Amino acid sequence: MKVKERMLITGGNPLEGVVHVSGGKNTAVAVIPATLLADAPCTIENLPDIEDVRALVDILRKLGAVVDYVPGDHMTVDPRPADGWQVAFHEAQRLRASYYLLGALLGRCGRAKVAYPGGCKIGSRPIDQHMKGFEALGAETGDVGGYYTVEAKELKGADIFFDVVTVGGTINVMLAAARARGTTIIYNAAKEPHIVDLANFLNSMGARIKGAGTDVIRITGREHLHGTTYAVIPDQIETGTLMIAAAATRGDVTVTGCIPQHMEALTAKLLEMGVRVSDDDDAIRVRCSTGPQRAVNFKTQVYPGFPTDLQQPMSALLTMAKGTSIIQETIFENRFRHLDELARMGAHVRVMDRTAIIEGVPQLYGAPVTTTDLRAGAALLVAGLMARGVTEIYEPEYIDRGYEHIEEKLTSLGAVISRERIED
Ligand code: EPZ
Repeated sequence: MKVKERMLITGGNPLEGVVHVSGGKNTAVAVIPATLLADAPCTIENLPDIEDVRALVDILRKLGAVVDYVPGDHMTVDPRPADGWQVAFHEAQRLRASYYLLGALLGRCGRAKVAYPGGCKIGSRPIDQHMKGFEALGAETGDVGGYYTVEAKELKGADIFFDVVTVGGTINVMLAAARARGTTIIYNAAKEPHIVDLANFLNSMGARIKGAGTDVIRITGREHLHGTTYAVIPDQIETGTLMIAAAATRGDVTVTGCIPQHMEALTAKLLEMGVRVSDDDDAIRVRCSTGPQRAVNFKTQVYPGFPTDLQQPMSALLTMAKGTSIIQETIFENRFRHLDELARMGAHVRVMDRTAIIEGVPQLYGAPVTTTDLRAGAALLVAGLMARGVTEIYEPEYIDRGYEHIEEKLTSLGAVISRERIED
C-alpha cells in the first residue's frame, strides 16, 4: 500500500537567494515519447527527475525500448527493439501525457491502443481534436472499454484545423505527422514554449517542421528520423511558481537557468501588484518592498497569455493582496478546487462558474489542507509559506508529479519545510 505522507510548512520566512529551475515537465513528457519515431538512439538532457518522467520510462521499457535513465543527468532511449503498441490502464493512468503514445506509436508502427490517461482532474479534458487530427492523417480511431485506439495502413499529410487551441492535440498530431507521407498543416495550433521545443527536438532528428510557436505549423513527413542529443528547455511553470513564492514571502529570489521571455504574462501581473521584477538573458530576480501588494485581475489564456497552470499559485498570492482580485479561468472548467483549501487558511474567496473573486485579508493561518491536483499543490505550498503557523499539506505526491526536489529548493531559500510519513 502506498505510504501516506504529509508536508509540513512553517510560514513567515522571506525566501532569499538563488535557485536553479529544472527542465520542463510539459516539454519532457512530449519529447520522451517522440524518441519512438527515431530509428536510432536518442539522448535527452536537462530532464526533471519527476514522477511523470519516471512513469514514461516504465511505459517505454514495457513497449520494448531500451531506456538508460540517469536522473538529474540524461536519458538515452534506443527505440529499435520496441515492438509494443499497447499501454495498459495502470500505466496510462500514472500521467496525462501517456496519450502522446497514440501519436508516437501511430507514427512509428501505424497502430496504438492506449488506456485513458490520468492527470489532473481540472475539467472533462476530451481528446476529440486529437482524434480528428489522426483521422485527417488517414487513421481509424476508436474509443472502446476505456481504451483509445488508432490504426492506419499509411499516414498521409493533411490540413487540420483545430476547433479549440489544444496543447495536447497539437503535440499528438505533430508526433504522427512527422512520419506521415507528405505535408501536414495544423491551423489554430497551440503556441506554448513546449510546442516549439518538441518541434526543435524532432527537427534535430531530421524532421521538417516549420512555424512552431505560431498558430500555423507545417510538417513535412519523413520516412526515417535519425538519433539525436537534445537538452529540453527550462520549466516555465516551475519558474513562475518560484517567482510567485518569492513575492508571497516578500523575499528576494533570483531564478537562474530560466527563459524570461516565457514569463512575460506573469511578470507583467507581478509588476502591476507592485512587486519588483528584473531579468537578464537566463535569470529573473523578484524583490519585494514591505509595502502592500495591490490586488490585480487576470484571465487565463493560451500562450503568450497568462498560463492556466499559474492561475492556482497566483490565486494564493492574491489572498493577501490589498483589495479584491478577479480571476477568470477560461481554459479548464474545474480549476478552482484549491480555493476551498485556501479558505481553510483564512482566505476570503467566492467562485461563480469560471470566475473567482478574492478579497485580500491581512493574514493567512496555517491549517491542515489537501492537495487536489498538481498546481493546487503549488498553491498550497505558496499559501503555507505565507501563513502564520504550521500548514500540513496532505497528498503531497501530486506536487511530486511536476516539481523536482521542491522541498530542497525552497529550504535552500530559507523556507521551513519538511515531509513525514503518516502512521495509520
Ligand atoms: C496541457 O494539457 C498541459 N499538460 C496542462 O498542464 C496545461 O494546463 C494545458 O496544456 C494548457 O496549457 C501537459 O502538457 C501534459 P489542452 P492538455 O489540450 O494538453 C480542451 C500541468 O499542470 N480540449 O490545451 O490537456 C480541453 O478540455 C498541466 O502541468 C478539447 O476540448 O490541454 C481544455 O478545456 C495541467 N478537445 C482546453 O481544450 C481536445 O481534443 C485546453 O486543453 C483537447 C482539448
